Amino acid sequence: MAVFCLGSINIDHFYRVPHLPAAGETLGALGHSYGLGGKGANQSVAAARAGALVRHIGAIGAGDEWILHQLGEFGVDTSGIRLLDDTATGHAIIYLDAAGENSIVISAGANGMQDRAHVRAVLSDGGRGDVLLVQNETDLQAEAAAMARAKGMAVLYSAAPFDADAVREVLPHITALSMNAVEAAQLSEALAVPLTDIPVAELIVTRGGEGADWYDIAGGNKLSIPAVAVQVVDTTGAGDTFTGYFAAGRDRGLTPHEAMTWAMKAAALKVTRQGTAAAIPSANDVAAFENIF
Ligand code: RIB
Repeated sequence: MAVFCLGSINIDHFYRVPHLPAAGETLGALGHSYGLGGKGANQSVAAARAGALVRHIGAIGAGDEWILHQLGEFGVDTSGIRLLDDTATGHAIIYLDAAGENSIVISAGANGMQDRAHVRAVLSDGGRGDVLLVQNETDLQAEAAAMARAKGMAVLYSAAPFDADAVREVLPHITALSMNAVEAAQLSEALAVPLTDIPVAELIVTRGGEGADWYDIAGGNKLSIPAVAVQVVDTTGAGDTFTGYFAAGRDRGLTPHEAMTWAMKAAALKVTRQGTAAAIPSANDVAAFENIF
């Protein structure tokens, strides 16, 4: 079984700042670093580092082949990533304050240039038992989700960054929806229904320091997983780590409770590290962490 991920690939530029800038404020950064990120790439790295077979579908600008090498080192199959000659790789400007909170601006670049025939060709290798991950930082997520469902694959959609119209378009084609508490409230309001009436089989709501909930909507069941208390360094990519580990856990046959618990520990460990893709822990790191908590 395999995890496919149609998702963004960004070059993340981190600026450590004394506080998140206010409107009109000019602020001196305390430090700058950059590295591989993007919600899609982070989820692929998390699932691969959790031990799943992962194939990423996406696009970057020619000249940034270091991204392919790095994804490959993390165990991600990059054969589904197109190199575009005339479009830059997507990037993100991330302000990170002393409390580990962030503020992010993304520029889509190549992430918004997905190719329908290419997505179809890669997904033709998928089938029942496989899962497709999609988020809101590329185009074609609804089409890809429909293609995957037609092949009997499960589809786990992270509705981030939140866009009510995008969610409405993707919802009919997915089996599971993952959101943070703010996005869940926004969607509930946009659809004018309570959370438990959102039309999807499985719903995951991450609540930061308050843990995470898993809903089996049709069955009316709910699981609540407590958060793991850690020293927060950087929350960026914690949700992606959670989603990638959850998908890998289900892929290897864990129950929802086991997969949620594993994902929670992986996300907590990520939060203790600065950065995105390169800061996502391996399954061994998570196992060692489990012995502490
Ligand atoms: O979720 C974190 C990610 O959001 C960052 O890696 C950044 O690239 C943005 O996509």
